[in-house]
Amino acid sequence: MFVSDALSINEKNHLTVGGCDAVELAKKYGTPLYVLDETAMRRAAALYRDSIDKFYGGRGLVFYASKALCCLEVLRIVNSEGLGADVVSGGELYTALKAGMPAERLCMHGNNKTYDELVYAIESGVGRIVVDNAPELEAISAICAERGLCQKVLFRIKPGIDAHTHNFIMTGQIDSKFGFALETGEARDIVLKALSLPGVEVGGVHCHIGSQIHELEPFRRAAEVLVGFIADIKDETGYEMKELNLGGGYGVMYTEADDPIEFDKYIEAVSLVLKDTCEKRGVSLPFVMMEPGRSIVAAAGVTLYTVGAIKDIPNVRRYVSVDGGMCDNPRYILYQSEYTALVANRAGDKPVQKVTVAGRCCESGDLVGENMPLQSVAAGDTLAVLTTGAYNYSMASNYNRVPRSAMVMTRNGESRLIVRRETYEDLVRNDI
Ligand code: LLP
Repeated sequence: MFVSDALSINEKNHLTVGGCDAVELAKKYGTPLYVLDETAMRRAAALYRDSIDKFYGGRGLVFYASKALCCLEVLRIVNSEGLGADVVSGGELYTALKAGMPAERLCMHGNNKTYDELVYAIESGVGRIVVDNAPELEAISAICAERGLCQKVLFRIKPGIDAHTHNFIMTGQIDSKFGFALETGEARDIVLKALSLPGVEVGGVHCHIGSQIHELEPFRRAAEVLVGFIADIKDETGYEMKELNLGGGYGVMYTEADDPIEFDKYIEAVSLVLKDTCEKRGVSLPFVMMEPGRSIVAAAGVTLYTVGAIKDIPNVRRYVSVDGGMCDNPRYILYQSEYTALVANRAGDKPVQKVTVAGRCCESGDLVGENMPLQSVAAGDTLAVLTTGAYNYSMASNYNRVPRSAMVMTRNGESRLIVRRETYEDLVRNDI
């Protein structure tokens, strides 16, 4: 019944997360509360890491996309599992470094990195910068030349694959703010330009074809297209790019409608394509990189709320209001995302109704979900929303001056606070 093996039900009929009673967690730490299970997160990270050893002879590295959930403890765990991290801002870079992540295992992203962020990344010694546009490449070259440094760069390529429509339209993705298009020759031109610039080492290519994808085919296709590009550049210039980063996007299960693929299947599928295409095109097997974010933390996370007002609108719907909402999880208001919810203190009971779970903010669209099957529910119950580990805390806000929620980590029946709840004082800290 559960979307994650971090979850179970105890003898009190309460939901448990990582062996901890969710109702007790809510009591101890208050609500709304993000709960993240360390074991589940480590298991997902290890599955990706080991799949590169198993299917690709260890010639690669997994970067955790820290935008999914970025805080010190999460990055410490990622680091201890031997993964690198994808960082997309000075703030994520700072957090990763502060968590002890070696700079060479960081990959710096962004479609509009500031000059200061580039200097920060280069001076910190990040292993790779993924170049998104020509002025950025020139800035990197100048910053490095001034300092006598050389920065390895990858190029973000739009491979022309639309993973969401199931229709691999080769021109469909030219209209994207990210990266260089293949069809227009932009991608070729930027690589040739980089080969002539001081201070940059042309490492390879990168693509990211979308998020919450439940198919292998778009990844196979992306690998094939990018190796084709590496081979074209080699044929034209004699220079062989050695690295291929296939980005993230591996889907997870939010509701029973989702049918995720085991994470190691991605690298298995891509490995075969790489071996085949490289042989055909006469290039060596690249060092391969992946950047899973959602699939490392989403299923390890649960959000706990306290149920407040319940409002029945006859023949329309039942609103069950909780003490959080778009401030801690803006994914419904942004994408109408669907989640699975349950009453944590009646976790094993069968759902008896469909409800709209409403947040506390002054927006009609501030919902956690509509038509959510739920057990019988009353004010004071603890409501658990599952699979909230990714893109919840990292996209949280202080709208309506609501303090950001605390986060606890569970492990084998123990819990510890990893992000403190914001206070009213925190809210005015930067006000003058
Ligand atoms: N690499 C790059 C360059 C990315 O842009 C992203 C996500 C990832 C890796 C990680 O993708 P993942 O494995 O997590 O799918 N806020 C949205 C998701 C935005 C994803 C943006 N880029 C959501 O809540 O669904």
